Amino acid sequence: MVGKIVGTGSYVPDNVLTNEDLSKMVDTNDEWILERTGIKTRYITEDDTTSSMAIKSAVKAMDDSKVDPMDIDMIIVATLTPDVLVPSVSCYVQAHIGARNAQCMDINSACTGFLMAYQIVQSYIQCGTVRNALVIGSENLSAITDFTDRSNCIIFGDGAGACVISATEGRVISIMHTDGERGKVLEAESRTPKDWMEREKKKLTYIRMDGQEVFKFATKEVPNVINEVLEKAKVNIEEIDYFILHQANKRIIDFIVKRLKIDADKVPTNIERFGNTSAASIPLLIDEMNRAGKFKDAQKLVIAGFGGGLSWGASYIEI
Ligand code: COA
Repeated sequence: MVGKIVGTGSYVPDNVLTNEDLSKMVDTNDEWILERTGIKTRYITEDDTTSSMAIKSAVKAMDDSKVDPMDIDMIIVATLTPDVLVPSVSCYVQAHIGARNAQCMDINSACTGFLMAYQIVQSYIQCGTVRNALVIGSENLSAITDFTDRSNCIIFGDGAGACVISATEGRVISIMHTDGERGKVLEAESRTPKDWMEREKKKLTYIRMDGQEVFKFATKEVPNVINEVLEKAKVNIEEIDYFILHQANKRIIDFIVKRLKIDADKVPTNIERFGNTSAASIPLLIDEMNRAGKFKDAQKLVIAGFGGGLSWGASYIEI
């Protein structure tokens, strides 16, 4: 058995931060941001937290799936910005939706988090321990973004996406890599809201990123891992209906399209509106695609994620 996405949901806060708004905060402009990243707007929390966004996206996904909350066996939330360390965000979600039979955990694999959670659920389903699972990516990145650092604050946004996954027949083949030796390329030391409030006092840092190294890493490793997973699945790249990529940066996505020589129409994007929402970006995109009626039976899909760790991976899906 493998896991099929049977319901999706997403949520972003109301508060939009445009490139124009950012140009009043730091020395930047719409043209520079658009050309280097493809981002026009991003959503920033005011009253929301990682948990509240996770819950709002989960409620929509549960509603879409028609799965009874009592039949959910597992909830995984991927996030690098949990509200508190204990209980995990997934426990808040469980309590809210009444999924009393679910085992719950959060995982942090930065922007690769949703894909890693998806792959974990696939393993549990394949070994028969889980039949229905809820996988969520939720991030409150604005809370750890330095809005005086123009090379960072233009990229990130907040939001959440959720998928209900149920056991069925099909093929899912996955690969995941991590390289801790390159971890310093993308770091964030502060973890909880309390830390965020006190970060000046404690000298905790915001997200720090060597943008050019991240760029080089992603444009090399993502095409490689997509080729690797397709080789393992024994499927030609031309057969793939959609490549669902982490929305880090439009320029990175364009490079990947070029390097793999694939049709750009098969690589949907929404980074223009949401920015880089880390673990939330893939489920946000999946929800949009689902609601636009893009998914049909017997399609061949690839999901690829990459980010801090460094970590990167891909799943081939044929259900
Ligand atoms: N507006 C205007 N100028 C800016 C700017 C901004 N927001 N940010 C940086 N600059 C300036 C720099 O100060 C530098 O000026 P200088 O030449 O006078 O020193 C110049 O633009 C080039 O800076 P650089 O850092 O080399 O830009 P870049 O082309 O590498 O673009 C990123 C920066 C961050 C957009 C790019 O490196 C990138 O997209 N990296 C990947 C980031 C990513 O996807 N992270 C998430 C991974 S999950």
